[in-house]
Amino acid sequence: EVTKDRNGVDQVVLRNRRGSSARVSLHGGQVLSWRTDQGEELLFTSSKAIFKPPNPVRGGIPICFPQFGNCGSLEQHGFARKKIWVIDQNPPPFLQHNDSNDKVYTDLLLEPSEEDLKIWPHSFEFRLRVCLTVEGNLTMISRIRNINCKPFSFSIAFHTYFSISDISEVRVEGLETLDYLDNLFQRERFTEQGDALTFESEVDRVYLSSSDVIAVFDHEQKRTFTIRKEGLPDVVVWNPWEKKSKSMVDFGDEEYKQMLCVDGAAIEKQITLKPGEEWTGRLELSVVHSG
Ligand code: BG6
Repeated sequence: EVTKDRNGVDQVVLRNRRGSSARVSLHGGQVLSWRTDQGEELLFTSSKAIFKPPNPVRGGIPICFPQFGNCGSLEQHGFARKKIWVIDQNPPPFLQHNDSNDKVYTDLLLEPSEEDLKIWPHSFEFRLRVCLTVEGNLTMISRIRNINCKPFSFSIAFHTYFSISDISEVRVEGLETLDYLDNLFQRERFTEQGDALTFESEVDRVYLSSSDVIAVFDHEQKRTFTIRKEGLPDVVVWNPWEKKSKSMVDFGDEEYKQMLCVDGAAIEKQITLKPGEEWTGRLELSVVHSG
């Protein structure tokens, strides 16, 4: 089902037969909503979010590409999240290997405009399949192909804003003992000590080369998110906390308590594609309720 948002941008609504749903905007190829079969929203969107292209919506899953953060010549987090993607009417057969009637999905495509090529002179095709499984899991399969005659390198992150009950009650597992780059200390490298991650102040880190499964435990809500990833070695963990929240126009002063970004990403080692080469990354988000 394709609907239009208030700015006339198309959004694709996916609904599986058990009643789970997801909504994806063509603006940025950004997932804006992911709901359980009980109608419970799992992604955070700020009440101050500005739904006006080109700026990305504060929430959901903006895609940072071809640059993460401000390390590089491009604007913060690259241009893909600001662009209007198109529905890929004819996804090439290589995308269809896991098709099944039980899966509900949409295929989106981003190709650089002439304006993009001026600031990043590399022709590419970025194909994104957003899929809702029978169980209600949200999967995002990305394929990026170099259709240029010279190699290029990129970083990528799926900047996932999880909706949580209270940041002080949340725990992230799967990042123990890993090295991370701390954005709050000029990207200095540190090593995470023993325990699962908990939060009591601003966090802005890139954990390096993690395992492919990360879990976010929300005790109060009695739910656990699991992030499964392939081709995305790094994990961004971000919460702006009090002071930074106040400096963001599209974010409520207290909303940092209700969100946590945990992104599957490839940042430290950029991905390089030779002419004709293609990279594939896969992210699967699932949720389990207890009690
Ligand atoms: C994080 C960055 O991943 O994204 C932070 O590490 C940044 O430094 C945050 O503040 C949000 O970025 P933006 O551009 O969406 O405001």
